[in-house]
Amino acid sequence: MDLRTDQPHPARIYDFYLGGKDHFAPDRELGQKVLEICPQLASGAQINRRFLARSVGLLARDHGIRQFLDLGTGLPTSPNLHEVAQGVAPEAQIVYVDNDPIVLTHARALLTSTPEGVTQYIDGDVLDVDRIMDEAARTLDFGRPVAVSALALLHFLPDPQPAEMLAEVRERLAPGSFLSISHALPGLREAAAAYQGGTGLGTLRDWDEIAPLFGDFEMLEPGLVEPHRWRPELDPAEEDPEGALDNMGACGVARKR
Ligand SMILES: C[S@@+](CC[C@H](N)C(=O)[O-])C[C@H]1O[C@@H](n2cnc3c(N)ncnc32)[C@H](O)[C@@H]1O
Repeated sequence: MDLRTDQPHPARIYDFYLGGKDHFAPDRELGQKVLEICPQLASGAQINRRFLARSVGLLARDHGIRQFLDLGTGLPTSPNLHEVAQGVAPEAQIVYVDNDPIVLTHARALLTSTPEGVTQYIDGDVLDVDRIMDEAARTLDFGRPVAVSALALLHFLPDPQPAEMLAEVRERLAPGSFLSISHALPGLREAAAAYQGGTGLGTLRDWDEIAPLFGDFEMLEPGLVEPHRWRPELDPAEEDPEGALDNMGACGVARKR
């Protein structure tokens, strides 16, 4: 498989921002160039991962969720979703989906389930909803609640793809299921332009374009907010960077009635 390590790649640049080890010189060069324009981007990536940890922990602990479908998983990073969920409930079942060959080569690290639980990895395009849901159904029972996450994914997809894909996914979920989204905001425009110059990706959306992606699901408190403002009390280490990360990213969790 040709992983084109001579060219910058979004999953590896994101890994660079998270302090991971799966990146090469071209990824670091573009990553650094974007950081010069928008130094907060590295903290933005980290607060997005902490939103994942707090929200998955809450859904497992307070809402009894035992099934998770993670769309656009990315490279393994600590903690992975299954580590958080199975830390609360060892029997939790997690299905990861990504279409990136680089993520696939690291997928084994994602498949380290507890003996009681299950992790599955689907190498596929989230837009192929029929195939993803059919394959995920080998592990997950869609007749019962499932928490679907689409974190830092949808800004890689042009309109109308996110709305159409999520409408299909929401339709197939049982009442009591959840949808979690995090998404880049227009405050990242300059950074996205530099990023796009190097990787050809990125569709920023504003608050009023992100909110409808939850459809008629009911938003959990505190609604759609910047990731460090989503239930920070769940993690004593969460800090408010005093406006530095305003208007860079939005996130929320909503429940199917
Ligand atoms: C920035 S990473 C986010 C990783 C993780 N969800 C997080 O929030 O930390 C975005 C991931 O979405 C994946 N992705 C983008 N478009 C996709 C598609 N159409 N189908 C599946 N995965 C996709 C990319 O390969 C990448 O790994």
